[in-house]
Amino acid sequence: MSITDSGIQLPLLLFLLTPFCFDHGLMVVSVIGKTLEESSSCSGSGSGVVGGIRKLLHLQDKGSTSSSSSAVFNVKSFGAQANGHTDDTKAFMAAWKQACGFTGTVILLIPKGKYLIGPIKFTGPCTNVSSINVRMKVRFESFYASRSSLVYHLSLRFYASVAEEMSVQGYLKATTDLSRYGSSAGWVEFAWVDGLTLTGGGTFDGQGAKAWPYNKCTIDSSCQLLPINLKFVAMNKTVVRGIRSLNSKFFHIALVECNNFKGSQIKISAPANSPNTDGIHIERSSSVYFSRSLIGTGDDCISVGQGNSQVTVTSISCGPGHGISVGSLGRYPNEGDVKGLVVRNCNMTGTMNGIRIKTWPNSPGLSAATNMTFENIVMNNVTNPIIIDQAYCPFTSCASLAPSRVKLSDIYFRKIRGTSSSAVAVTLECSKGIPCQNIYLEDVHLDLLSSQEKKHVATSSCRNVRVKYIGTQIPPPCV
Ligand SMILES: *[C@@H]1O[C@H](CO)[C@@H](O)[C@H](O)[C@H]1NC(C)=O
Ligand SMILES: *[C@@H]1O[C@H](CO)[C@@H](O)[C@H](O)[C@H]1NC(C)=O
Ligand SMILES: *[C@@H]1O[C@H](CO)[C@@H](O)[C@H](O)[C@H]1NC(C)=O
Ligand SMILES: *[C@@H]1O[C@H](CO)[C@@H](O)[C@H](O)[C@H]1NC(C)=O
Ligand SMILES: *[C@@H]1O[C@H](CO)[C@@H](O)[C@H](O)[C@H]1NC(C)=O
Repeated sequence: MSITDSGIQLPLLLFLLTPFCFDHGLMVVSVIGKTLEESSSCSGSGSGVVGGIRKLLHLQDKGSTSSSSSAVFNVKSFGAQANGHTDDTKAFMAAWKQACGFTGTVILLIPKGKYLIGPIKFTGPCTNVSSINVRMKVRFESFYASRSSLVYHLSLRFYASVAEEMSVQGYLKATTDLSRYGSSAGWVEFAWVDGLTLTGGGTFDGQGAKAWPYNKCTIDSSCQLLPINLKFVAMNKTVVRGIRSLNSKFFHIALVECNNFKGSQIKISAPANSPNTDGIHIERSSSVYFSRSLIGTGDDCISVGQGNSQVTVTSISCGPGHGISVGSLGRYPNEGDVKGLVVRNCNMTGTMNGIRIKTWPNSPGLSAATNMTFENIVMNNVTNPIIIDQAYCPFTSCASLAPSRVKLSDIYFRKIRGTSSSAVAVTLECSKGIPCQNIYLEDVHLDLLSSQEKKHVATSSCRNVRVKYIGTQIPPPCV
């Protein structure tokens, strides 16, 4: 017996759950008002049932195309040609509109094939029920009492956190007509969606080579920004797993004001000489986690901009590129602080920098970057393995050289080893106006790469900082 997606009413639901939760009928109400995770009051023998329901819920959340409880919206059913030269943007939008308006667990499927796509914005919120926090549906498969025991098979789906999955299995190519993109827009942009999973193994090809000659941002500070391959704006509870971003026109992936974001198994690549093709840029976001990804670009593999907190980056292989950067910070007024960054178990190969913290001179406002840990990082042939640069100015001349007003403190470099391709392996150039505080170097072993200089050791350079050294120090500490 199966009643699929029937909206069973609250009294019946209470009836269904009450046998397991005994006197905890109120618990059920709180379950409905919040999420299952928050309900732990169903104790005793009942908690096993809630655990079982949780498991069912979890299975349901994973959603597969074959699951009868998920609605699948295939872009091809919305007219996508998937031939690589017909513009399929409209079909994608139509599919999204339906998927986003659907009340339930949804998969938007972009099957194998080549799709030419113009600028596109997948915008939420996707919950079309205003009283979403008190609405739920029960899928009732079988429920009957035998003489000695209750046999039940019950699965719940909560629409308070609507699960949208976008399964990109195809190869998406960005239109090369720059006039179609808005300023600082994304090519593919996601905004205001709660609980999106983007996965499927597909590729987002920005076709950047035609656009790179128009990038003047390396020489002109008031340049027009080219489109970002994948831009995430004001998203909550996002999962991005197993996708590829190729040759973006500008940044590959950017997060702005996102909370609770998990990215893994992402492959990002662009040529070493492509301008501003940063792998992942994070701004004004919190609880962000990136892991197990391969990034090789013409700019930073990962850049952690202003206003971020609780950002964790692990098991990233970076190179070519400019390394993993914090910043640049202190360029604009009203920038937020950066705090709670952890970068761990990463390999940097042939990059310009390993770990870099960069702040502009003459910052218009005060800000801070604090509580940052860089741990267990291997540098292979890296020009500046460890570098703090508080006089960062990528243009030939900056208007003023007044010291940076970004305060750097509580920064730990731990277990950093490998090779430096330049003589100065550790550069800590802090602001003259606000010297760095509590900078720790622990177990650093960086040898010079070049054979001619084998007899020489790498050196350190420090300004406006008193470093706390622990354990091995190669190069030797600043004196
Ligand atoms: C919201 O969902 C209902 C069905 O639950 C549907 O009839 C309606 O069209 C949806 N509204 C929007 C704006 O998608
Ligand atoms: C994200 O979470 C914040 C804080 O809970 C909330 O105010 C906001 O509306 C949420 N955004 C979306 C798109 O659900
Ligand atoms: C880093 O390199 C080591 C040794 O080559 C390897 O074992 C490890 O898996 C690499 N880690 C990443 C994140 O690529
Ligand atoms: C520092 O950051 C880590 C990682 O985000 C966090 O767990 C810890 O609580 C922070 N410490 C302080 C003192 O804020
Ligand atoms: C070191 O990296 C540079 C690029 O930065 C590359 O040209 C060179 O071949 C690399 N050397 C070794 C020994 O890997």
